[in-house]
Amino acid sequence: AQPVLILAIETSCDETSVAVVKDGNEVLSNLISSQIETHRAFGGVVPEVASRKHVEVITLVIEEALSVAGVEPEELTAIAVTQGPGLVGALLVGVVAAKSLALAWGKPLIGTHHIAGHIYANRLVTELKYPCMTLVVSGGHTELVQMEREGEFRIIGRTRDDAVGEAYDKVARALGFPYPGGPHVDRLAREAEEAVPLPRVWLEPDSYDFSFSGLKSAVLNVVNQSRMKGLTPDVAGIARGFQESVVEVLVEKAIRAVKSSAAKQLLLCGGVAANGGLRTLLTARCEAEGIELIIPPPVYCTDNAAMIGAAAYVKWIHDGGTPLDMVADPGFSL
Ligand code: KG4
Ligand code: ZN
Repeated sequence: AQPVLILAIETSCDETSVAVVKDGNEVLSNLISSQIETHRAFGGVVPEVASRKHVEVITLVIEEALSVAGVEPEELTAIAVTQGPGLVGALLVGVVAAKSLALAWGKPLIGTHHIAGHIYANRLVTELKYPCMTLVVSGGHTELVQMEREGEFRIIGRTRDDAVGEAYDKVARALGFPYPGGPHVDRLAREAEEAVPLPRVWLEPDSYDFSFSGLKSAVLNVVNQSRMKGLTPDVAGIARGFQESVVEVLVEKAIRAVKSSAAKQLLLCGGVAANGGLRTLLTARCEAEGIELIIPPPVYCTDNAAMIGAAAYVKWIHDGGTPLDMVADPGFSL
């Protein structure tokens, strides 16, 4: 059979990424142009700036992705793009580029869900066994997603306030680190001798939901109280206390979700899946419970287009393409 070659475009936030993915799991190229340096001066992603930066580089990144893959436009099966969720202006740049190429090259278009992308990053690593459970932890999302079969998603738990990555970034900022602060907090937490005690938020006993804003406020209180007393806050101890609290709740809820379902595998995904503390505890707990755990390598955890190519393949196989009049949808649901 002819290979399915998908050109995938991801511009939902602050990375312009384009990939060529063969048969849904073989990455022929995966280029990522990051805007982090630009946004750092503002302490976070500025939507208008993100859109402009995507416009500046997208054509180049597309050409480069095809060239690295050694694939000619005629050989492509379809053009995939992140349709949502994300920043609307940023999504629009990718969607307009994908539609233009689909029209110009006479190829089908595949509108893809960003979180389906994060989940199917795991498909680039190994074959998935259904039913399975996914813990999605990113800058914009914190969800437990149950999948009975390929292409079907049921969200059984989600954050009621901040996403976990967002909480990391806010805590990092309070501790004096630049955006994105997650990796700084992670490093400090692992270097710290002792943890500053901080609360764990479990919510109702049977709930798979999460809440991180109270924990974030508790961190801000500790920092402010030290400053008011003229003391330097124990930055490392706070980072460790925060990380232990977050990771313990994420891990225990994910394990409980797997054990109370028929899930054959637990998948981890999203930018916070790069967190050392989370990877270590989740790995240990899954080993103890006899649960098969899959974690993609860091490059497929943070935003990238290869994961969009993997998700687009699944959509293509089951549902075919998306009409060309589709629109970028910042609130796109799974
Ligand atoms: O998935 P992602 O690249 O973008 C979204 O779709 O949101 O996730 C970015 C988030 C940021 O909040 C960043 O601080 C966080 O992932 N992050 C981390 C680590 N690496 C990235 N958080 C904690 N520990 C890390 N090592
Ligand atoms: Zn993402």
